[in-house]
Amino acid sequence: MIEMTGINKYYIVDQEKIHVLKDISLTINEQEFVAIMGPSGSGKSTLINTISFLDGDFEGTYRFNQENSYRFKDEKLSALRNESVGFVFQAFQLIDNNTVMENVALPLLYGGMKQRKTKPLVMAALEKVGIADKYNKLPKQLSGGQQQRVAIARAIVGNPKFIVADEPTGALDSKTSDEIMYLFKHLNEEEKVTILMVTHDPDAAAQCERIITVKDGELLKDGEAFAY
Ligand SMILES: Nc1ncnc2c1ncn2[C@@H]1O[C@H](COP(=O)(O)OP(=O)(O)OP(=O)(O)O)[C@@H](O)[C@H]1O
Ligand SMILES: [Mg+2]
Repeated sequence: MIEMTGINKYYIVDQEKIHVLKDISLTINEQEFVAIMGPSGSGKSTLINTISFLDGDFEGTYRFNQENSYRFKDEKLSALRNESVGFVFQAFQLIDNNTVMENVALPLLYGGMKQRKTKPLVMAALEKVGIADKYNKLPKQLSGGQQQRVAIARAIVGNPKFIVADEPTGALDSKTSDEIMYLFKHLNEEEKVTILMVTHDPDAAAQCERIITVKDGELLKDGEAFAY
């Protein structure tokens, strides 16, 4: 599904060119559950932002489902992002004064679906993450773990090709982190959701099938989790 070859990316800061992704080549198939690890500043977020069509400004070849997305202009990139990717963030990023149901419906409404039609899909996504009974609550009425479940429901509701999660357990205590990891594992195994997760937590990474380690913008290691 995801095929990157010789990806290089630079940021220009104070007229200085910083090389942030260095000759990255990787392939990710459907239904994989991949952890991306590495020190702070090593390029993990930059890499997943590139993979998830947030940033099309790089050198090299990115083929997605056999199509070369390198030449895609911004408009095409955002369309591709909206229909293909679900996002989960460390800080949940829910809309405070919207209910759980309204938060989860957002990607569907962006995609042009009529509000009325979103309801059954939203409820099905909330069932999958185990908080269907909270549909009418506001985010602040929920625990951190429950809020992250809402964010995961929002990420999967549109049935994306893959979801990216940038340190999804970073703001949670260890027990809640374990529960969220268990949920990701369940979604991967039972619902066949392809997941790319950035994490600093070796216990969380150990739940994945495969771990990619990035260091100084380079792909340092890529292999099956049990062999790490
Ligand atoms: N928008 C930007 N403009 C300029 N430099 C940036 C930008 N975003 C990131 N960088 C730089 O690129 C490098 C990689 O950053 P990135 O955020 O990808 O690291 P990371 O591995 O996700 O780190 P962390 O674990 O702290 O989240 C860093 O040196 C960072 O300072
Ligand atoms: Mg980061």
